[in-house]
Amino acid sequence: MKIRVFETPSDAGLYVAALAERVVLDVPNPVLGLATGSTSCPFYQAFVKFEKCGLDLSRTTTINLDEYIGLPDTHPQSYHYFMNEQLFDHVNIPRDQIFIPDGAAADLHAECERYDDIIRKHPIDFQILGIGVNGHIGFNEPNDLLLSRTHVVELSHDTIASNARFFTDVSEVPRKAITMGVQAILQARQIVLMAFGKEKAHIVSRAIQGEVRTDIPASILQLHRDVTIVLDKLSASELP
Ligand code: F6R
Repeated sequence: MKIRVFETPSDAGLYVAALAERVVLDVPNPVLGLATGSTSCPFYQAFVKFEKCGLDLSRTTTINLDEYIGLPDTHPQSYHYFMNEQLFDHVNIPRDQIFIPDGAAADLHAECERYDDIIRKHPIDFQILGIGVNGHIGFNEPNDLLLSRTHVVELSHDTIASNARFFTDVSEVPRKAITMGVQAILQARQIVLMAFGKEKAHIVSRAIQGEVRTDIPASILQLHRDVTIVLDKLSASELP
């Protein structure tokens, strides 16, 4: 694992955008695995600027990690909405090369299978991750068992409480989501996990220095051969 510590999240976002640019330039039909959440915003801001400066994303395919169940695409807290606002409305990625799980699908089981099929057909070159305060990646929550494939998950109390900051009331936070499984994440050729702020310091240190364990899903990244952990000073404050 490589660990890079930056002064600010925006410096870190620039670094991750430069890593992603390398992949887009080197791979004929690049596939980027994307995350949502506040941590990913500095990366998207930088990446949009790269595109405005001439980086062509027209051959790029994107596969998002997860989506809430029960929010329409048009809801400002849906991950469809977030991705349009942060990235897709500003860059030249063709719409038919953009994949996000459909949390409004009538048959969620079929939707999970459809999504696994998409991942199989588009192996991920570069996967962006955030980390939950409880150690989740995507919405793979701490559990006795980590599921390998795309699945419906009951969000944990920690995740609901943490994500309540984006809603007017905690009661509005969806209780379920669709998430890519850990196998798809680990099959990505290169993984970059970002974490910023003091509230992530403890879980970052446990995930990257402690044992690999299913109740800290991000710890499984220790088993991957090309992972970069991108931090700011605050999230790195519990590392030696
Ligand atoms: C969202 C996702 C989550 C977030 C994590 C951190 O697509 O995959 O794992 O990355 O919950 O969220 P923030 O960045 O809002 O703290």
